[in-house]
Amino acid sequence: MTRVLSVASECVPLVKTGGLADVVGALPAAMAQLGYEMRALIPGYRSVMKQVKTSKAVVAFDDLFGGPARVVAAKVAGLNLLVLDAPHLFDRAGSPYLDDSGADWEDNAERFAALSYAAAHIAQNGADGWQPDIVHGHDWQAGFVPEFMHRLADGQPTAPFVFTVHNIAFHGNCAADRRAALLLDEGRFNADHFEFWGQISALKAGLTGAQRITTVSQTYAEELMTPEFGMGMDGVLRARRGDLSGIVNGIDLDVWNSETDAEITPYKTPRGKAANKAALQAEFGLGQSDGPLCVLVSRLTEQKGIDLLIKAVPTLLGRGGQLALLGSGAAQLEVALHALAAQNENVAVKIGYDEALAHRMIAGGDAILVPSRFEPCGLTQLYGLRYGTVPLVALTGGLADTVINASPAALAKNAATGVQFFPITAEALSNAFTRLCDLYHAPRTWGVLQRNAMKQPVGWETSAKAYGQLYSDLTQG
Ligand code: ADP
Ligand code: GLC
Repeated sequence: MTRVLSVASECVPLVKTGGLADVVGALPAAMAQLGYEMRALIPGYRSVMKQVKTSKAVVAFDDLFGGPARVVAAKVAGLNLLVLDAPHLFDRAGSPYLDDSGADWEDNAERFAALSYAAAHIAQNGADGWQPDIVHGHDWQAGFVPEFMHRLADGQPTAPFVFTVHNIAFHGNCAADRRAALLLDEGRFNADHFEFWGQISALKAGLTGAQRITTVSQTYAEELMTPEFGMGMDGVLRARRGDLSGIVNGIDLDVWNSETDAEITPYKTPRGKAANKAALQAEFGLGQSDGPLCVLVSRLTEQKGIDLLIKAVPTLLGRGGQLALLGSGAAQLEVALHALAAQNENVAVKIGYDEALAHRMIAGGDAILVPSRFEPCGLTQLYGLRYGTVPLVALTGGLADTVINASPAALAKNAATGVQFFPITAEALSNAFTRLCDLYHAPRTWGVLQRNAMKQPVGWETSAKAYGQLYSDLTQG
């Protein structure tokens, strides 16, 4: 059985700030179906250690970037985990990445270098007899893994390294003078390895050191090689074009199942959404209305196009539509959204993070909005598809790959599942609201859209096979 060590900074259900956690938490079970034994190595944040009830130390370090540390093997919610218990780095209150003031922890480079070092140590020496055939790192937090594999194996690492980019916006950069402290190889501080415009870049270390690079949709794989989306790494990725591929994310069909979801009035067909819509309107303090109830569940950042939504939403409201939004993030966006809700009785906003409410929203909404400026994959449009909640999305990244726009041709072929807009501007979004409302007011067409949406295969099956193929290409040749 092929053993895969997955290395990441988040994993559902233990720690989550975004979709990365869902993917890392879901992949082991999906890969197990295909005969792969995948174990995830994650940081032992304070909140994670609290959830690790029984554990066994399988690796010990006297001094890992400033203090003693160990890797413990633990089973939580059916997942076989390896947890890096390094109190000097991870035993802190608050966010995995940010201190109380909202700034990056100043030792983030050391914290995730430690995670990467522990992964490389396990690749080289095993953990209690378990040695991976493949190491699969996610995002910059695992970027130094190939550097440390190289170092610990004297330049001859045995296991191949696969690197998945979930979001190229985060580089994990730090000042060049930290390279000795980070145990990085002086001779590799150059543009072919981990140097990026005079700084150290964990992301670049991963991109240059991996045998294969994947990202979470085919369109994003293409976009990454362009200056517009590559965020400075497009040249590095163009140079690795032959090793780069896109594998779209799936969702957990047990968690997102409208027939068994304990948060909602369960339903099998779109008709069953009505009770959930009424409940959601009541929960958000919205009245009845003629138009579609649009929902949005998101981190509130520049990426997510919330400012475009604020500009375009009058078109939706003018057609009798409503907006219910759940999110948290940038303070100025939170303020702007509160103001929008205060001015419009058909807009309601909840600031916070609430998984259960997300389920009620996706069940109760008529449409789900994802107006992102860029979106490597995106998960909420997939939840929407599965729940018959028509996605209205920007034409970018995974949103382009997972939604079929209701063009006349797609409608005629009975293939359409949602509405896409391009260019990614407030004006195009406003036009998309008009199209959405037209479709909504044509009940037969709307019903077709909902049913098409619910039929889309959004689970992990196909993508797990694609990862399996990639792993076997690497181990067999
Ligand atoms: P990203 O990883 O860029 O944030 P994704 O769409 O891939 O975007 O994943 C976001 C995940 O986080 C989804 O599972 C979404 O439901 C969840 N999420 C985001 N914000 C919230 C929130 N405020 N409350 C509950 N869930 C949220
Ligand atoms: C990132 C991306 C998102 C993707 C998620 C999981 O956070 O922003 O589009 O779905 O990772 O891969």
